[in-house]
Amino acid sequence: MNPERVHYLAMNSLQNACNIPIIKHIIQQQFSIQHEVLEKEVFGLRFKNPVGLGAGFDKNATYLHALSCLGFGFVEIGTVTPKAQSGNEKPRLFRLPADKALINRMGFNNDGVLAIQKRLADWKNKAAKISTSALIVGGNIGKNKHTKNEDAWKDFTLCFDALFDVADYFVVNVSSPNTPGLRALQEKDALKKILSSIQNINFGKYKPKPLLLKIAPDLTTWQLDDIIALAEEVQLSGMVISNTTIERSTLKATPAAIVEHIGSGGLSGAPLLLKSNEVLKYVASQTNYRLPIIGSGGIFTADDAKQKILLGASLIQVWTGFVYEGPGITHKICKGLINK
Ligand SMILES: Cc1cc2nc3c(=O)[nH]c(=O)nc-3n(C[C@H](O)[C@H](O)[C@H](O)COP(=O)(O)O)c2cc1C
Repeated sequence: MNPERVHYLAMNSLQNACNIPIIKHIIQQQFSIQHEVLEKEVFGLRFKNPVGLGAGFDKNATYLHALSCLGFGFVEIGTVTPKAQSGNEKPRLFRLPADKALINRMGFNNDGVLAIQKRLADWKNKAAKISTSALIVGGNIGKNKHTKNEDAWKDFTLCFDALFDVADYFVVNVSSPNTPGLRALQEKDALKKILSSIQNINFGKYKPKPLLLKIAPDLTTWQLDDIIALAEEVQLSGMVISNTTIERSTLKATPAAIVEHIGSGGLSGAPLLLKSNEVLKYVASQTNYRLPIIGSGGIFTADDAKQKILLGASLIQVWTGFVYEGPGITHKICKGLINK
């Protein structure tokens, strides 16, 4: 079956199951894990465990109830854009099981910031009543496909403002390969305009929210140095390292003809682990391990997660690993982290 259809079928079934109290209880018993060594305070937020779900899985904040039952410490919704958009033509999500990888060119399909704001507000109200508010929700924000790069800062500030009261932290996404020209916004001047416009609003609030930047694993060292300097200048709370890669050289088992036939898109999963770890290691060491980093890319096991934490990550996120390993992945990683 088409992988995108499977995604929605599986998540809808899980969400429906979690609406039945006895089944929800069984799912929570099986997948949730609580232990004081897993608890962590990062950029002023208290995480019940350091294992999160990466952006793009629950783009529209539809499945937070189900995802909280699976034991995630945090979920990053989005990427959210000001206007709803349908994304790229299907098929746009491809499984490469021999390499434990995915290639996607979704193109920021999402319901738009106002619909998502409402959904998040409803979730927050409901979660407060059933006391599952311990799930931290990050808001990953982006620009619409047809917004020119010079106007991108307006899209980012609009999304930030709209979601301010309903998201716990924010991530600026300028690193997805599937919106034409987006990654050019990782250049110093363009990025400074976006980040400083957001921080202007943020620092005017009574209690500013943590603002992070998500970067691509394909940046050069000098680009990374610019970003590190900028992170300090605009007082970022952290970085998410990394997004998917446009490189294909780490694919070993999938026949080249299949890879070519799939075409453009971001590669995630096992072939991204080393590359994202290299960038993580560089940024962590250059910032003297003081800047909180969310490690993303190629995590399937507790050892993969430990590796990122050793390199300098404070928190980690799974995505492709969740697809291949199934809903027990958080429990498995948390257990491994307790027994480290
Ligand atoms: C189908 C798909 C859609 C994604 N959509 C987004 C997105 O909208 N915004 C974003 O910042 N990252 C997005 N990502 C990137 C993931 O959040 C994650 O950073 C990346 O897949 C690397 O982690 P992994 O190797 O564990 O999958 C997406 C990834 C996949 C596979």
